[in-house]
Amino acid sequence: RGGAPSSPAPSSHILRRSFSVESGPERKVAILGAAGGIGQPLSLLMKLNPLVSRLALYDIAGTPGVAADVSHINTRAEVKGYAAEEQLGQALEGSDLVIIPAGVPRKPGMTRDDLFNINAGIVKSLCTAIAKYCPDALVNMISNPVNSTVPIAAEVFKKAGTYDEKKLFGVTMLDVVRAKTFYAGKANVPVSEVNVPVVGGHAGITILPLFSQATPATNALSEDDIKALTKRTQDGGTEVVEAKAGKGSATLSMAYAGAIFADACLKGLNGVPDIVECSFVQSSITELPFFASKVRLGKNGVEEVLGLGTLSEYEKQGLENLKAELKASIEKGIKFAKDN
Ligand code: NAD
Ligand code: LMR
Repeated sequence: RGGAPSSPAPSSHILRRSFSVESGPERKVAILGAAGGIGQPLSLLMKLNPLVSRLALYDIAGTPGVAADVSHINTRAEVKGYAAEEQLGQALEGSDLVIIPAGVPRKPGMTRDDLFNINAGIVKSLCTAIAKYCPDALVNMISNPVNSTVPIAAEVFKKAGTYDEKKLFGVTMLDVVRAKTFYAGKANVPVSEVNVPVVGGHAGITILPLFSQATPATNALSEDDIKALTKRTQDGGTEVVEAKAGKGSATLSMAYAGAIFADACLKGLNGVPDIVECSFVQSSITELPFFASKVRLGKNGVEEVLGLGTLSEYEKQGLENLKAELKASIEKGIKFAKDN
Protein backbone atom coordinates (compact mmCIF):
# COMPACT_ATOMS: atom_id res chain seq x y z
CA ARG A 1 0.00 0.00 0.00
CA GLY A 2 1.42 3.31 -1.11
CA GLY A 3 1.96 5.01 2.21
CA ALA A 4 -1.59 5.30 3.51
CA PRO A 5 -1.59 5.96 7.26
CA SER A 6 -1.88 2.58 8.85
CA SER A 7 -5.09 1.98 10.72
CA PRO A 8 -8.50 3.55 10.34
CA ALA A 9 -9.58 3.38 13.99
CA PRO A 10 -6.54 2.77 16.18
CA SER A 11 -8.29 3.84 19.37
CA SER A 12 -10.77 0.99 19.25
CA HIS A 13 -7.93 -1.42 18.41
CA ILE A 14 -6.06 -0.47 21.56
CA LEU A 15 -9.10 -0.80 23.76
CA ARG A 16 -10.43 -3.98 22.19
CA ARG A 17 -7.09 -5.74 22.33
CA SER A 18 -6.61 -4.74 25.93
CA PHE A 19 -9.23 -7.19 27.08
CA SER A 20 -7.76 -10.20 25.30
CA VAL A 21 -4.83 -12.32 26.41
CA GLU A 22 -1.88 -11.48 24.20
CA SER A 23 1.48 -13.01 23.66
CA GLY A 24 4.20 -11.43 21.58
CA PRO A 25 7.78 -10.32 21.97
CA GLU A 26 8.78 -8.81 25.29
CA ARG A 27 8.72 -5.03 24.91
CA LYS A 28 9.74 -2.54 27.57
CA VAL A 29 8.39 1.01 27.33
CA ALA A 30 9.65 3.84 29.57
CA ILE A 31 7.68 7.06 30.05
CA LEU A 32 9.72 10.05 31.32
CA GLY A 33 7.41 12.61 32.90
CA ALA A 34 4.87 9.89 33.67
CA ALA A 35 3.10 11.71 36.51
CA GLY A 36 2.30 14.84 34.49
CA GLY A 37 -0.83 15.96 32.70
CA ILE A 38 0.08 13.91 29.61
CA GLY A 39 2.12 11.32 31.48
CA GLN A 40 -0.77 9.98 33.58
CA PRO A 41 -3.30 9.23 30.83
CA LEU A 42 -0.45 8.09 28.56
CA SER A 43 0.67 5.65 31.26
CA LEU A 44 -2.89 4.35 31.44
CA LEU A 45 -3.13 3.90 27.67
CA MET A 46 0.25 2.16 27.45
CA LYS A 47 -0.82 -0.16 30.28
CA LEU A 48 -3.82 -1.09 28.11
CA ASN A 49 -1.58 -1.88 25.14
CA PRO A 50 -0.98 -5.66 24.98
CA LEU A 51 2.24 -5.15 22.99
CA VAL A 52 3.87 -3.82 26.18
CA SER A 53 5.31 -6.37 28.62
CA ARG A 54 7.12 -3.92 30.96
CA LEU A 55 6.16 -0.33 31.66
CA ALA A 56 8.65 1.93 33.49
CA LEU A 57 7.11 5.13 34.83
CA TYR A 58 9.64 7.84 35.70
CA ASP A 59 9.01 11.33 37.06
CA ILE A 60 10.71 13.63 39.54
CA ALA A 61 7.40 14.20 41.39
CA GLY A 62 4.33 12.09 42.08
CA THR A 63 5.53 8.80 40.59
CA PRO A 64 4.69 6.33 43.39
CA GLY A 65 0.97 7.11 43.35
CA VAL A 66 0.65 6.94 39.58
CA ALA A 67 2.68 3.71 39.37
CA ALA A 68 0.70 2.02 42.17
CA ASP A 69 -2.59 3.09 40.62
CA VAL A 70 -1.78 1.99 37.05
CA SER A 71 -0.15 -1.25 38.26
CA HIS A 72 -3.49 -2.57 39.56
CA ILE A 73 -4.97 -2.80 36.06
CA ASN A 74 -5.15 -6.45 35.00
CA THR A 75 -3.32 -6.26 31.70
CA ARG A 76 -0.03 -7.72 30.47
CA ALA A 77 2.45 -4.96 31.28
CA GLU A 78 4.36 -5.20 34.54
CA VAL A 79 4.52 -1.66 35.95
CA LYS A 80 7.37 -0.15 37.95
CA GLY A 81 7.71 3.40 39.21
CA TYR A 82 11.01 5.29 39.37
CA ALA A 83 10.85 8.43 41.45
CA ALA A 84 14.27 10.03 41.59
CA GLU A 85 17.15 10.84 39.29
CA GLU A 86 19.26 8.05 40.81
CA GLN A 87 16.63 5.60 39.50
CA LEU A 88 16.53 6.95 35.94
CA GLY A 89 19.12 4.42 34.76
CA GLN A 90 17.06 1.50 36.06
CA ALA A 91 13.93 2.96 34.47
CA LEU A 92 15.66 3.13 31.09
CA GLU A 93 17.71 -0.08 31.06
CA GLY A 94 16.35 -2.62 28.56
CA SER A 95 13.81 -0.20 27.06
CA ASP A 96 12.70 -0.70 23.47
CA LEU A 97 10.83 2.58 23.40
CA VAL A 98 11.18 5.74 25.51
CA ILE A 99 8.39 8.31 25.43
CA ILE A 100 9.24 11.81 26.73
CA PRO A 101 6.42 14.09 27.87
CA ALA A 102 8.59 15.72 30.61
CA GLY A 103 8.65 19.49 30.76
CA VAL A 104 6.57 22.59 31.30
CA PRO A 105 3.43 23.29 29.24
CA ARG A 106 2.25 26.64 27.82
CA LYS A 107 0.00 29.19 29.47
CA PRO A 108 -2.20 31.62 27.48
CA GLY A 109 -0.14 34.18 25.56
CA MET A 110 2.95 31.95 25.31
CA THR A 111 4.40 30.35 22.20
CA ARG A 112 5.91 26.86 22.31
CA ASP A 113 9.31 28.51 21.85
CA ASP A 114 8.77 30.33 25.17
CA LEU A 115 9.19 26.88 26.80
CA PHE A 116 12.65 26.45 25.29
CA ASN A 117 14.68 27.79 28.21
CA ILE A 118 13.27 25.27 30.69
CA ASN A 119 12.53 22.27 28.48
CA ALA A 120 15.79 22.27 26.51
CA GLY A 121 17.75 21.47 29.67
CA ILE A 122 15.27 18.78 30.76
CA VAL A 123 15.37 17.07 27.37
CA LYS A 124 19.16 17.29 27.21
CA SER A 125 19.63 15.59 30.58
CA LEU A 126 17.05 12.87 29.83
CA CYS A 127 18.62 12.15 26.43
CA THR A 128 22.07 11.98 28.01
CA ALA A 129 20.70 9.21 30.24
CA ILE A 130 19.07 7.45 27.26
CA ALA A 131 22.43 7.46 25.44
CA LYS A 132 23.99 5.82 28.49
CA TYR A 133 21.35 3.29 29.54
CA CYS A 134 19.33 2.35 26.43
CA PRO A 135 21.17 3.69 23.37
CA ASP A 136 19.25 1.38 21.02
CA ALA A 137 15.76 2.42 22.12
CA LEU A 138 13.35 4.32 19.89
CA VAL A 139 12.66 7.78 21.33
CA ASN A 140 9.26 9.50 20.99
CA MET A 141 9.76 13.19 21.84
CA ILE A 142 6.61 14.96 23.03
CA SER A 143 8.20 17.80 25.06
CA ASN A 144 7.92 21.21 23.41
CA PRO A 145 9.14 22.98 21.41
CA VAL A 146 9.34 19.76 19.37
CA ASN A 147 10.91 21.70 16.45
CA SER A 148 13.92 22.29 18.75
CA THR A 149 13.84 19.41 21.25
CA VAL A 150 14.28 16.78 18.52
CA PRO A 151 17.44 18.48 17.17
CA ILE A 152 18.68 18.79 20.78
CA ALA A 153 18.19 15.04 21.26
CA ALA A 154 20.00 14.30 18.00
CA GLU A 155 22.99 16.42 19.05
CA VAL A 156 23.15 14.81 22.51
CA PHE A 157 23.13 11.36 20.91
CA LYS A 158 25.76 12.43 18.36
CA LYS A 159 28.04 13.68 21.15
CA ALA A 160 27.59 10.36 22.96
CA GLY A 161 28.28 8.43 19.74
CA THR A 162 24.90 6.69 19.84
CA TYR A 163 22.87 8.67 17.29
CA ASP A 164 20.78 6.61 14.91
CA GLU A 165 18.49 8.85 12.89
CA LYS A 166 16.10 5.97 12.39
CA LYS A 167 15.29 5.92 16.10
CA LEU A 168 14.41 9.52 16.92
CA PHE A 169 10.85 10.77 16.43
CA GLY A 170 9.18 14.09 17.20
CA VAL A 171 5.58 13.27 18.03
CA THR A 172 3.36 15.33 15.69
CA MET A 173 0.51 12.85 15.84
CA LEU A 174 -1.77 15.28 17.67
CA ASP A 175 -1.74 17.51 14.60
CA VAL A 176 -2.92 14.52 12.55
CA VAL A 177 -5.57 13.63 15.15
CA ARG A 178 -6.87 17.22 15.05
CA ALA A 179 -6.78 17.46 11.25
CA LYS A 180 -8.78 14.22 10.99
CA THR A 181 -11.37 15.39 13.50
CA PHE A 182 -11.81 18.85 11.98
CA TYR A 183 -11.91 17.52 8.39
CA ALA A 184 -14.50 14.85 9.23
CA GLY A 185 -16.72 17.46 10.88
CA LYS A 186 -16.52 19.90 7.99
CA ALA A 187 -16.70 17.36 5.15
CA ASN A 188 -19.37 15.36 6.96
CA VAL A 189 -17.61 12.01 6.48
CA PRO A 190 -17.18 9.25 9.09
CA VAL A 191 -14.22 10.28 11.25
CA SER A 192 -12.98 6.70 11.63
CA GLU A 193 -12.34 6.54 7.87
CA VAL A 194 -10.46 9.81 7.59
CA ASN A 195 -6.75 10.17 6.90
CA VAL A 196 -4.94 13.50 6.56
CA PRO A 197 -1.16 13.82 6.33
CA VAL A 198 0.31 16.72 8.31
CA VAL A 199 3.85 17.80 7.43
CA GLY A 200 6.43 20.41 8.43
CA GLY A 201 6.86 20.86 12.16
CA HIS A 202 4.89 21.27 15.36
CA ALA A 203 4.27 24.98 16.01
CA GLY A 204 1.96 27.52 14.37
CA ILE A 205 2.52 27.89 10.63
CA THR A 206 5.12 25.10 10.62
CA ILE A 207 2.15 22.71 11.04
CA LEU A 208 1.01 22.08 7.44
CA PRO A 209 -2.01 19.78 7.01
CA LEU A 210 -2.33 18.47 3.46
CA PHE A 211 -6.10 18.52 3.07
CA SER A 212 -5.71 18.12 -0.72
CA GLN A 213 -4.59 14.54 0.09
CA ALA A 214 -7.29 13.88 2.71
CA THR A 215 -9.32 10.72 2.31
CA PRO A 216 -12.19 10.12 1.80
CA ALA A 217 -11.87 12.90 -0.78
CA THR A 218 -14.68 15.41 -1.00
CA ASN A 219 -15.54 18.28 -3.29
CA ALA A 220 -17.83 19.76 -0.66
CA LEU A 221 -15.11 22.05 0.72
CA SER A 222 -14.40 25.50 -0.70
CA GLU A 223 -10.99 27.17 -0.70
CA ASP A 224 -12.11 29.22 2.29
CA ASP A 225 -13.16 26.03 4.12
CA ILE A 226 -9.67 24.56 3.52
CA LYS A 227 -8.03 27.75 4.77
CA ALA A 228 -10.18 27.72 7.91
CA LEU A 229 -9.44 24.02 8.53
CA THR A 230 -5.72 24.67 8.07
CA LYS A 231 -5.75 27.57 10.51
CA ARG A 232 -7.76 25.62 13.08
CA THR A 233 -5.28 22.71 12.87
CA GLN A 234 -2.33 25.10 13.23
CA ASP A 235 -3.98 26.81 16.21
CA GLY A 236 -5.36 23.63 17.81
CA GLY A 237 -2.86 23.70 20.66
CA THR A 238 -3.60 27.35 21.40
CA GLU A 239 -7.35 26.62 21.35
CA VAL A 240 -6.81 24.15 24.21
CA VAL A 241 -4.33 26.39 26.08
CA GLU A 242 -6.89 29.22 26.05
CA ALA A 243 -9.77 26.95 27.07
CA LYS A 244 -7.70 25.64 29.99
CA ALA A 245 -7.06 29.27 30.97
CA GLY A 246 -3.71 28.86 32.72
CA LYS A 247 -4.06 25.20 33.74
CA GLY A 248 -1.80 23.90 30.96
CA SER A 249 -2.17 22.58 27.43
CA ALA A 250 -3.57 19.51 25.71
CA THR A 251 -3.10 16.42 27.87
CA LEU A 252 -5.90 13.94 27.11
CA SER A 253 -5.88 14.30 23.32
CA MET A 254 -2.06 14.29 23.47
CA ALA A 255 -2.00 11.12 25.53
CA TYR A 256 -4.30 9.52 22.94
CA ALA A 257 -2.10 10.71 20.08
CA GLY A 258 1.08 9.63 21.90
CA ALA A 259 -0.37 6.18 22.59
CA ILE A 260 -1.37 5.72 18.94
CA PHE A 261 2.08 6.75 17.77
CA ALA A 262 3.84 4.51 20.32
CA ASP A 263 1.61 1.62 19.28
CA ALA A 264 2.67 2.19 15.65
CA CYS A 265 6.36 2.19 16.68
CA LEU A 266 5.91 -1.08 18.60
CA LYS A 267 4.10 -2.69 15.68
CA GLY A 268 6.97 -1.63 13.43
CA LEU A 269 9.53 -3.12 15.84
CA ASN A 270 7.51 -6.34 15.87
CA GLY A 271 7.67 -6.57 12.08
CA VAL A 272 4.06 -5.69 11.27
CA PRO A 273 4.16 -4.47 7.64
CA ASP A 274 2.82 -1.20 6.20
CA ILE A 275 2.83 0.89 9.36
CA VAL A 276 2.86 4.51 8.20
CA GLU A 277 2.36 7.57 10.40
CA CYS A 278 3.48 11.20 10.30
CA SER A 279 6.44 12.21 12.48
CA PHE A 280 9.13 14.90 12.74
CA VAL A 281 12.33 13.06 11.83
CA GLN A 282 15.72 13.57 10.24
CA SER A 283 14.82 14.10 6.64
CA SER A 284 16.11 14.93 3.18
CA ILE A 285 12.75 15.49 1.50
CA THR A 286 13.26 19.27 1.80
CA GLU A 287 16.44 21.28 2.41
CA LEU A 288 15.71 21.25 6.16
CA PRO A 289 17.54 18.61 8.24
CA PHE A 290 14.42 17.67 10.22
CA PHE A 291 10.91 17.66 8.82
CA ALA A 292 7.59 15.99 9.60
CA SER A 293 6.11 13.78 6.92
CA LYS A 294 4.72 10.31 6.49
CA VAL A 295 7.21 7.72 7.73
CA ARG A 296 7.17 3.96 7.24
CA LEU A 297 7.99 2.23 10.54
CA GLY A 298 9.87 -1.03 10.78
CA LYS A 299 12.08 -3.26 12.88
CA ASN A 300 14.76 -0.57 13.20
CA GLY A 301 12.47 2.43 13.55
CA VAL A 302 12.22 4.62 10.46
CA GLU A 303 12.24 2.35 7.44
CA GLU A 304 11.46 5.03 4.90
CA VAL A 305 10.74 8.76 4.99
CA LEU A 306 7.99 9.22 2.43
CA GLY A 307 7.82 12.23 0.13
CA LEU A 308 5.25 15.01 0.21
CA GLY A 309 3.21 13.88 -2.80
CA THR A 310 1.39 16.42 -4.94
CA LEU A 311 0.61 19.68 -3.14
CA SER A 312 -2.07 22.25 -3.95
CA GLU A 313 -0.93 25.80 -4.71
CA TYR A 314 -2.08 26.83 -1.22
CA GLU A 315 -0.03 24.03 0.37
CA LYS A 316 3.03 24.88 -1.78
CA GLN A 317 2.81 28.43 -0.45
CA GLY A 318 2.37 27.13 3.12
CA LEU A 319 5.48 24.99 2.67
CA GLU A 320 7.57 27.96 1.53
CA ASN A 321 6.19 30.12 4.35
CA LEU A 322 7.10 27.65 7.13
CA LYS A 323 10.71 27.03 6.16
CA ALA A 324 12.34 30.08 7.77
CA GLU A 325 10.70 29.54 11.18
CA LEU A 326 11.33 25.81 11.18
CA LYS A 327 14.98 26.31 10.15
CA ALA A 328 15.51 28.84 12.97
CA SER A 329 13.94 26.50 15.59
CA ILE A 330 16.09 23.58 14.42
CA GLU A 331 19.24 25.69 14.52
CA LYS A 332 18.36 27.01 17.97
CA GLY A 333 18.13 23.45 19.30
CA ILE A 334 21.41 22.39 17.67
CA LYS A 335 23.20 25.48 19.03
CA PHE A 336 21.89 24.86 22.56
CA ALA A 337 23.11 21.27 22.54
CA LYS A 338 26.51 22.24 21.14
CA ASP A 339 27.00 25.09 23.66
CA ASN A 340 25.84 23.25 26.78
P1 NAD B 1 2.88 18.79 33.12
O1 NAD B 1 3.53 19.94 33.78
O2 NAD B 1 1.49 18.45 33.51
O3 NAD B 1 3.74 17.48 33.29
C1 NAD B 1 5.12 17.49 33.05
C2 NAD B 1 5.74 16.45 33.95
O4 NAD B 1 7.14 16.43 33.66
C3 NAD B 1 5.59 16.75 35.45
O5 NAD B 1 5.02 15.64 36.11
C4 NAD B 1 7.00 17.02 35.91
O6 NAD B 1 7.28 16.57 37.23
C5 NAD B 1 7.79 16.20 34.88
N1 NAD B 1 9.19 16.60 34.79
C6 NAD B 1 9.74 17.83 34.82
N2 NAD B 1 11.08 17.74 34.72
C7 NAD B 1 11.37 16.43 34.65
C8 NAD B 1 12.58 15.70 34.55
N3 NAD B 1 13.77 16.31 34.50
N4 NAD B 1 12.50 14.37 34.49
C9 NAD B 1 11.31 13.74 34.52
N5 NAD B 1 10.14 14.36 34.63
C10 NAD B 1 10.17 15.70 34.69
O7 NAD B 1 2.94 19.09 31.53
P2 NAD B 1 2.15 18.33 30.37
O8 NAD B 1 0.86 19.00 30.12
O9 NAD B 1 2.17 16.87 30.63
O10 NAD B 1 3.09 18.68 29.11
C11 NAD B 1 4.39 18.16 29.04
C12 NAD B 1 5.10 18.65 27.78
O11 NAD B 1 4.45 18.14 26.60
C13 NAD B 1 5.09 20.17 27.61
O12 NAD B 1 6.36 20.59 27.15
C14 NAD B 1 4.05 20.42 26.53
O13 NAD B 1 4.27 21.62 25.82
C15 NAD B 1 4.28 19.21 25.66
N6 NAD B 1 3.17 18.86 24.75
C16 NAD B 1 3.49 18.44 23.50
C17 NAD B 1 2.51 18.06 22.61
C18 NAD B 1 2.86 17.58 21.25
O14 NAD B 1 1.98 17.54 20.39
N7 NAD B 1 4.07 17.15 20.98
C19 NAD B 1 1.16 18.15 23.00
C20 NAD B 1 0.86 18.60 24.27
C21 NAD B 1 1.88 18.97 25.16
C1 LMR C 1 -0.37 21.05 21.36
O1 LMR C 1 -0.29 21.12 20.13
O2 LMR C 1 -1.45 20.92 21.95
C2 LMR C 1 0.89 21.07 22.17
O3 LMR C 1 2.00 21.36 21.40
C3 LMR C 1 0.80 21.93 23.39
C4 LMR C 1 0.76 23.39 23.10
O4 LMR C 1 1.50 24.14 23.74
O5 LMR C 1 -0.03 23.82 22.25
